[in-house]
Amino acid sequence: MKALLLALAACTEPMPIDDMTCPPEGTLLTYDNFGADFMASHCNSCHSTGKSGAPRAYRFDTQDEVLAHKDRIFVRAAGPNLTMPPGPNDPPQAARDQLAEWLACGAP
Ligand code: HEC
Repeated sequence: MKALLLALAACTEPMPIDDMTCPPEGTLLTYDNFGADFMASHCNSCHSTGKSGAPRAYRFDTQDEVLAHKDRIFVRAAGPNLTMPPGPNDPPQAARDQLAEWLACGAP
């Protein structure tokens, strides 16, 4: 039983941003063509000034705010990490993969 619990813990361990490498050719994704829309569509119904659904310290209204929290945004929502948003309105996997690339490349 203990071994099973440990195994479960290991496979639900989130992937950290350092495990994702920016492609050698860089990314075509930018805040303007991807990041702003991703955050607005999938996160900022809670993580926005004036909204009360998420902790105040985690506002994602601007590129600077996203940059300030990029490691945690990655751990909660990018690539295989699925714990944000909470609830049923998940972004498509392709969008999570793009989020992973964009953040790993420094969220340009
Ligand atoms: C329905 C409301 C809601 C939506 C939508 C939402 N969040 Fe959250 N978020 C929360 C709440 C509530 C917390 C505090 C509880 C927790 O950490 O699970 C939180 C906490 C966080 C934290 C801080 C805690 C940590 O693990 O560092 C991050 C980062 C985060 N969310 C990222 C995101 C991202 C990225 C998205 C969009 C993909 C998103 N959230 C969408 C409600 C939401």
